[in-house]
Amino acid sequence: MIREVLRMGDPRLLRVAQPVTQFSTPQLDALLQDMRDTMAQLDGAGLAAPQIGVDLRVVIFGSISNPRYPDAPVVPATVLINPELVPLSDDEEEGWEGCLSVPGLRGWVPRWRHLRYAGCDETGQRFERTVDGFHARVVQHECDHLDGVLYPMRVRDFRRFGFIEELFDGQTPPLAD
Ligand code: NI
Repeated sequence: MIREVLRMGDPRLLRVAQPVTQFSTPQLDALLQDMRDTMAQLDGAGLAAPQIGVDLRVVIFGSISNPRYPDAPVVPATVLINPELVPLSDDEEEGWEGCLSVPGLRGWVPRWRHLRYAGCDETGQRFERTVDGFHARVVQHECDHLDGVLYPMRVRDFRRFGFIEELFDGQTPPLAD
């Protein structure tokens, strides 16, 4: 079921979300299906449960076959629950971000370049990945939602934060997640 995505300003986006304690439940499966349906409908690259008002540490992401962004780097379709992120160096990389909770806008955001992340899938199976670049950016953006952080809070240069139409002048804007 497609759910309403909360927009920045809604206090539910500012909560520190709760860990998932039970896996492979009908409730968790239904949540993930709603998140997939909502992300697909809005052509997002990722979605966090708090964005649909659910106070749990659950994110999904993946950029496979998004017709709006044929040249986007491929990130495998992933369910990540109770994530832990560890930067692997001090290196930062800046890039454009958008968010379904901040529609119509893009900002230039610094993120860790190299990252290890771990967490569970929907069955409770633990997994770990070492990633960099765009994949690392998407994970950091989505996991920030679990701690009540929206990407505008990480923008340093507000000259590079604004409306898509003004920033990109008719060209394809970078990914929204
Ligand atoms: Ni977002």
